[in-house]
Amino acid sequence: MAVGIFDSGLGGLTVLSAAQKRLPDVDFLYFGDNAHAPYGVRDADDVYDLTVSAVHKMWDLGCDLVILACNTASAAALRRIQEGGLPKGKRVLGVFVPLIEALTERQWGDNSPPREVGVQHVALFATPATVSSRAFQRELAFRAIGVDVEAQSCGGVVDAIEDGDLILAEALVRSHVDALKRKMPEPEAAILGCTHYPLMEQTFQDALGQDVKVFSQGTLVADSLADYLERHPDMLGSGDGGYVTTGDPARVSDRATQFLRRQITFRSA
Ligand code: DGL
Repeated sequence: MAVGIFDSGLGGLTVLSAAQKRLPDVDFLYFGDNAHAPYGVRDADDVYDLTVSAVHKMWDLGCDLVILACNTASAAALRRIQEGGLPKGKRVLGVFVPLIEALTERQWGDNSPPREVGVQHVALFATPATVSSRAFQRELAFRAIGVDVEAQSCGGVVDAIEDGDLILAEALVRSHVDALKRKMPEPEAAILGCTHYPLMEQTFQDALGQDVKVFSQGTLVADSLADYLERHPDMLGSGDGGYVTTGDPARVSDRATQFLRRQITFRSA
């Protein structure tokens, strides 16, 4: 019995890791589409096609519930997949909503009209595809009014992380934070809107300053998943857990082991 966690590459491991801590008795099947990462520089149709193909493979491997632990896939594909109709007993969930509920201090399922919230100036760091989709702003507008969102598209960061070049990733994060601050000098909160970025969370926090509250998705998504599984215990699936990749399993295992600081072994998808 396994719940599926999907990302274009290694970023979703930040969500997986939080979910494993929060739900130690649940098995997870992690699927990294490393052969096609990064998604963030692809167009929406391309991201949709790749995401649909991965989700179908995960359903075939016995996952009834697949979490798109990838903002780029959530932005480009989630709504289309859900609106296109899901096979009986299968579900796909994304990662935006738990984050926005935390930012707007809402409980799950609170569908009351949008209202003023505690923050007014929010920095969003995400991939070029997520930024241009404006999916974050759209979801936020359902829940909050009067929030000024300045989005910074962080080109290059995902490639550097996938290549294991953390020195380059840090330098790019600092330059993207500088660029954001030129547009919004004093954000009150910052959203790490790509699941790769929590691997660089300390660099974001240091560059933004300690007064800025940084929201990252791991624990927020894990809490929301725990709540979902309590309400839908039948969604645990029937397949085995583990780690699969469309990339080179040895290389991806090395990187994953380096990031999570424990042995992770991928097999071919
Ligand atoms: N980690 C993914 C996200 O949350 C995708 C990064 C990419 O492949 O560009 O957006």
